[in-house]
Amino acid sequence: MDNCTSTRKYTPKDLRIAVIGVGHVGLPTALGLAELGWEVIGADQDADTIRQMRDGKTPFYEPGLQMLLTRHLESGKFTVTSDVASAIHAATVLFICVGTPQREGGEADLSQIEVIARLIAQRLNEYKLIVEKSTVPAVTALWIKRTIMRYAASQRRSKEGSLNHPTASPEIDRDLSAPAFDVASNPEFLQEGKAVENFFRPDRIVLGVESARGQEMLEAIYRPLNRPTLVTGLTTAELIKHAANAFLSMKISYINMVADVCEAVGADVDKVASGLGMDPRIGAGFLSAGIGFGGYCFPKDLRAFIYLAEKHGVRGSLLREVERINLERPDRFLDKLYKALWIVQNKTIGIWGLSFKPNTDDIREAPSLRIIDALVKDGAHLRLYDPQAMQRVQQVFPEQPDQVTYCSSPYQACEGAHAVLLLTEWEEFQKVDLARVASLMELPILLDGRNALDAEEAGRVGLEYISIGRKSVPPTGETYPTAHIPPVQDLRLNETAWR
Ligand code: UGA
Repeated sequence: MDNCTSTRKYTPKDLRIAVIGVGHVGLPTALGLAELGWEVIGADQDADTIRQMRDGKTPFYEPGLQMLLTRHLESGKFTVTSDVASAIHAATVLFICVGTPQREGGEADLSQIEVIARLIAQRLNEYKLIVEKSTVPAVTALWIKRTIMRYAASQRRSKEGSLNHPTASPEIDRDLSAPAFDVASNPEFLQEGKAVENFFRPDRIVLGVESARGQEMLEAIYRPLNRPTLVTGLTTAELIKHAANAFLSMKISYINMVADVCEAVGADVDKVASGLGMDPRIGAGFLSAGIGFGGYCFPKDLRAFIYLAEKHGVRGSLLREVERINLERPDRFLDKLYKALWIVQNKTIGIWGLSFKPNTDDIREAPSLRIIDALVKDGAHLRLYDPQAMQRVQQVFPEQPDQVTYCSSPYQACEGAHAVLLLTEWEEFQKVDLARVASLMELPILLDGRNALDAEEAGRVGLEYISIGRKSVPPTGETYPTAHIPPVQDLRLNETAWR
């Protein structure tokens, strides 16, 4: 690993950048690059999104993004268009940030990437560096390259009229195969809710390249960040991203499994995680136990990585277990609610936090959705509150009198509640006045699905507080040690009696 070392000077005059796909990856990247001084076109076929951005509004909530959008629409460093082909034509470096959703079997659907590759093939007016940034399975970059070469060649042939002559002349063939582009893989490690911060201070920059020219361009683009950079081949860079997301998912499922053991034996998972995290070989991050991981990345990328491994004959059972543990988390949490309330039908349940994690309005694969769905089916009356994500959840669970009510504060969500569930650890919930919360509730029961609150304080104000992998407050009976079980031979039972 090295800090950027290239001496070749590329300046904003030499390189115009297009970012294709302005979602959670593309937009922070585009605006971050504009902030670094590059001229950036943000292109997306979704005309509504582009219109909204042209009017100066970001299409989703992400801290710091609105300020960057306003600043760089004004500075002229960032322009937007829904004409993706013209953006490709105008730029030298193309960052592909389109979606890679998931097919039924877990495989990544790369059709949007293919569409862009074919469009690029039609627009190869000059040398271009095509940078794959979306999370994709190994060898996608090679497919992008092959697709561009094929379609560029077929386009040139049809221009030369040689489609009528299947055996093109050697001159034309030579001309057609001349590479007018390079492909690179530059995986992103942005976390939603921290994407802007992560862009400017990445732990590492991974550059998967196939040519010195491509490497130099990317090094020049990122040089102002002055961060550790790892240069690899294309496929290795793709694997780094997949392996990183799968490993982080594995850490979360691991600590969740440890949390279950903590509950059974009366230990405290937060302290266990601290003890683990103090070992630099393990690392302190991603050891927060809770109701499981969601979002657009981990669940999808985990399945795609399992699919990739198994397709190549590598056993995916380790990661399958990671997924299984995660899928069970919302149900395990609901079990705690059922144990606390017995019957939830016609009970009022307050819900704090709907987004899949704090500081975003993204609800894709959020554990909250499964929990809400189960409670609605069980006939509970839900009072929901989230600082940013309520509008999106309303599209899935519309407001319904006596069933689903959206509230304007965490306190309103507690009014008359028989239990409150904390599902996303927004800072706002860590600052609530718990005594006031307890006084507003019908039954003062708080279930903390993210271990975000101070158990002692909750107990002090009279709440029954139930969390993950920690003792409940007030304590319920110890479940362990169970009665001492002596070895069979010490029981001095005759064999028949024992059987
Ligand atoms: C994740 C990765 O962290 C990024 O590095 C990566 O770039 C991104 O996916 C991507 O592939 O685009 P993100 O999904 O935005 O980022 O959010 P994370 O902060 O990783 O959280 C994912 C989920 O795990 C959330 O539901 C969160 O609540 C959960 N989580 C996280 C835990 O349950 N416990 C933890 O200790 C950490």
